[in-house]
Amino acid sequence: MPAPTFEELLARPGLAWMGQNTTHLPTPPAVVDAIESSVAAREFQLYAPPAGFERLRELIVADLGLVGSDAWLTDGAVGGLRQICAVLGSQASVLVTSDPGWPWPGRFVESVGTPVIALPIYEQPDHRLTAAQIAEVIEPGAIIYLIDPLNPLGSLYPREELEAIVEVARAADAWIIHDATYRHFAEGHTLVADLYPERTFTTYSFSKWLGLAGFRVGAVVAIPELIRMLTRLPSNPLGSSIVGQRAAIAGLSDPGAWLAELRSVNRRNLEAVERVVAETGFGHVVVSPSQANLLAIDVVDTGLHSEAVCDAILERDVFIRPGTYQSPLFGERFVKVSTSVPEAWADRFVAAWAELAAESAAR
Ligand SMILES: Cc1ncc(COP(=O)(O)O)c(C=O)c1O
Repeated sequence: MPAPTFEELLARPGLAWMGQNTTHLPTPPAVVDAIESSVAAREFQLYAPPAGFERLRELIVADLGLVGSDAWLTDGAVGGLRQICAVLGSQASVLVTSDPGWPWPGRFVESVGTPVIALPIYEQPDHRLTAAQIAEVIEPGAIIYLIDPLNPLGSLYPREELEAIVEVARAADAWIIHDATYRHFAEGHTLVADLYPERTFTTYSFSKWLGLAGFRVGAVVAIPELIRMLTRLPSNPLGSSIVGQRAAIAGLSDPGAWLAELRSVNRRNLEAVERVVAETGFGHVVVSPSQANLLAIDVVDTGLHSEAVCDAILERDVFIRPGTYQSPLFGERFVKVSTSVPEAWADRFVAAWAELAAESAAR
């Protein structure tokens, strides 16, 4: 069965969205107020400041704790990734990343003729890139694209591994793109920019932790010199969503209670998914505990293709995604489940998984 389009999925009002790592908990009231005030004032008739509201840029830099850095607001983190790849892509020798990973930066640099090496990590003991693996393929002037925590497995790069990766990068004068889209879900996240500020771009998203995917707000954070290099010819010279930025300012102004609730629901849902997988013996979780709002379930022993598993779960009105979107090498073997969702949705996933396991055992 061909995968349903997002438009088809959006036309299903009862769907449990557990495939895009987006957050579906009730939005913090201050964020809703900021959106409503902005709409009531018809701010959407205006362009936002090209680099983003000053206040928001300060809040993002403070949230990361990257003193002395600058933030540039983009149309989602992906807008920033697109721009980094446009600016660095044609001068870079190669982009080194992981398989599984997130495919877009690789596609962006390939479009300007730069090759991509996606190193296999699915079967690595820690399910992430190692400095040794990167050292084997790196070339002078490479870009290393690190997703941390990793979508789609939920693995985290510990500080020591990042230090070793930076050493390899420094020796090759390589750039690092540190994609920190899922940072707010992790325990003890280290920023590469703290170790290698001179050549690191950190990309930041509001889609996951604050649940603002539809507004398209994100940022690139780096030392001012790198931000200037990036924005000489910006991709969004008329600014990014003004209403979205108001929402982001409200969310970042007082994130404590929201983050505590978000992490607690996410943790509970991760555990519920892990439990049903263990109890049914239908597949096994690849990385536990996941450090993101998602986890991957290996389904190779079920005898089913990952896409067939997702189709069967979708018939039960729960949307999860096959690994094929994020892994040419291993995608048939795993499915990905997103967990920053209402507990009732996670429970629907649990019921659907148990049913599929029973059905499959009866066959
Ligand atoms: C690793 C990674 N980077 C970037 C993005 C895009 O984030 P945004 O919605 O902020 O554009 C995603 C979205 O799924 C992602 O998984």
